[in-house]
Amino acid sequence: MCGIVGYVGGQCALDVVLAGLRRLEYRGYDSAGVAVPADGGLAAAKKAGKLANLEKELAARPLPSGPTGIGHTRWATHGAPNDANAHPHLDNPGRVAVVHNGIIENFAALRAELAERGHVLVSETDTEVVSHLLSEAFSSCGDLAEAMRQVCRRLEGAFTLVAVHADDPDVVVGARRNSPLVVGVGDGEAFLASDVAAFIAHTREAIELGQDQVVELRRDSLDVTVTVTTFEGKDAEVRPYHVDWDASAAEKGGYDYFMLKEIAEQPKAVADTLLGRIDAAGSLSLDEVRIPGPVLREVDKVVIVACGTAYHAGLIAKYAIEHWTRIPCETELASEFRYRDPILDQRTLVIAISQSGETMDTLMALRHAREQGAKVLAICNTNGSTIPRESDAVLYTHAGPEVAVASTKAFLTQLVACYLVALYLGQVRGTKWGDEVRSVVRELSDIATQVDEVLETMEPVRELARSLADKGTVLFLGRHVGYPVALEGALKLKELAYMHAEGFAAGELKHGPIALIEEDLPVVVVVPSPRGRSVLHDKIVSNIQEIRARGARTIVIAERGDEAVRPYADHLIEIPATPVLLQPLVATVPLQVFACELATARGNEVDQPRNLAKSVTVE
Ligand code: G6P
Repeated sequence: MCGIVGYVGGQCALDVVLAGLRRLEYRGYDSAGVAVPADGGLAAAKKAGKLANLEKELAARPLPSGPTGIGHTRWATHGAPNDANAHPHLDNPGRVAVVHNGIIENFAALRAELAERGHVLVSETDTEVVSHLLSEAFSSCGDLAEAMRQVCRRLEGAFTLVAVHADDPDVVVGARRNSPLVVGVGDGEAFLASDVAAFIAHTREAIELGQDQVVELRRDSLDVTVTVTTFEGKDAEVRPYHVDWDASAAEKGGYDYFMLKEIAEQPKAVADTLLGRIDAAGSLSLDEVRIPGPVLREVDKVVIVACGTAYHAGLIAKYAIEHWTRIPCETELASEFRYRDPILDQRTLVIAISQSGETMDTLMALRHAREQGAKVLAICNTNGSTIPRESDAVLYTHAGPEVAVASTKAFLTQLVACYLVALYLGQVRGTKWGDEVRSVVRELSDIATQVDEVLETMEPVRELARSLADKGTVLFLGRHVGYPVALEGALKLKELAYMHAEGFAAGELKHGPIALIEEDLPVVVVVPSPRGRSVLHDKIVSNIQEIRARGARTIVIAERGDEAVRPYADHLIEIPATPVLLQPLVATVPLQVFACELATARGNEVDQPRNLAKSVTVE
């Protein structure tokens, strides 16, 4: 969380930095700030609240601009989201400015040490100690990159830091440990950012920074040199890559919100995620999963770790993996996994699911798993991010950039990737015959069209959502793979509509949740197909009757043609018939639309819900 931008080049640095921050606002929007070395000094501005507040401030009191600049959009960790705690943070003479993403764990000791040496710290943040330490180090060595290396060696925790100094105005320096930072390389200009979205309008050529590296962007007449070293000052290997999506993919494209655009993009995202993974004969070819067949054949346990929406994808994956491969599979919240001393060994396959590839809890979980000898396969949407880099193998989802904080298209593509991995395991281990794999692959290939069909019939769902805008609570029920769908539906509503929303396994109803049912309480029920495991279907129809008898207003998501459920549905949302295990791919879509419309009706900010951030890079 927190978005960082740095720029060196021929354009007005302030403009480039502000445009970059706009693209990164999804990472946090508690405050924003910029700093530019100019006219022999350092000019800075910062404001609590969204970037628009900073822009207003800059319009009222413009800053001078030069060829270098840095900026920050904050998701508060240490200290309230006010002006004083906003980044950048300056040293006492106001010559150095620092922006930071992460947590500096030993900041209290460093702060005390600085205070003893007479420094006056004016914020409650952990970041401010860095500007003071950098200032001291620069005074003795006269080189900002070297000063950064010296300071980083003293810091504990996770951090991305970017700094400028009035005495070296053609230079921007960055550093990273366990937090994201990428370099963009343009023609006579270079960028630093938490995410390529910040500079994609200028260049698609990027460089990955490794752990514990410092990067210097130095402007020299018309060129910019990028130098990467380790914290110890040794030359580091530079790993360039080409970003394969463009700026228009990150624009709203005519929609009011990114979330609406991303919901609409789901058919394409699903189809793109299957692309190149099915050979001419209709079989699976996942060459990119570099874990050798013999190792996969030895696997005796699968553990899925993830957070938030990705965790719900993992819960669904468990059903497919166990059913298709007969390997025991657990899905666990990444934040819980590491601390309960899980039993892992060389025969455990850990699957880490993450849209951003930067979620700290998931990253820590996979590191722990690898330390215990387990193999880690990442399912990720962000090329070159930390989680896939630290995994043994990766299967990328091809959802394209997801900007809205509440995840939609990334979730559907995570599901597709999970199904592919499950089938692949079945194929490699021989628990699935070739024709069975081909048949599921064919069914998966139909899903994009089915999601499209769902999207075309969403007007009644939007109408219903608007009619419920003044409700306080909505419950969600599901069984089997419908249970994680219910959890995801409830999460979307919490995130976006700020309503009390809970998802339950329908079978648990009579063990407690049924006590919550009262007159006109909206309850969304995800009904499994009446075909296939009809026993599940019949049981949930009984559940619907039980809650309806107690006054609930039933909102039923059921397969088209499911007549048995119709008499008990106050509102019926029909979805296309899919195989039982694949139903979440279509059943989730109405819940996304429902939450988005309810949030809009309640006047909430859809793309940037309060207190949240898209990428949570602290534990
Ligand atoms: C945050 C986001 C969620 C997301 C979760 C996991 O909480 O708001 O939408 O599901 O992080 O993120 P990841 O990038 O690891 O999928």
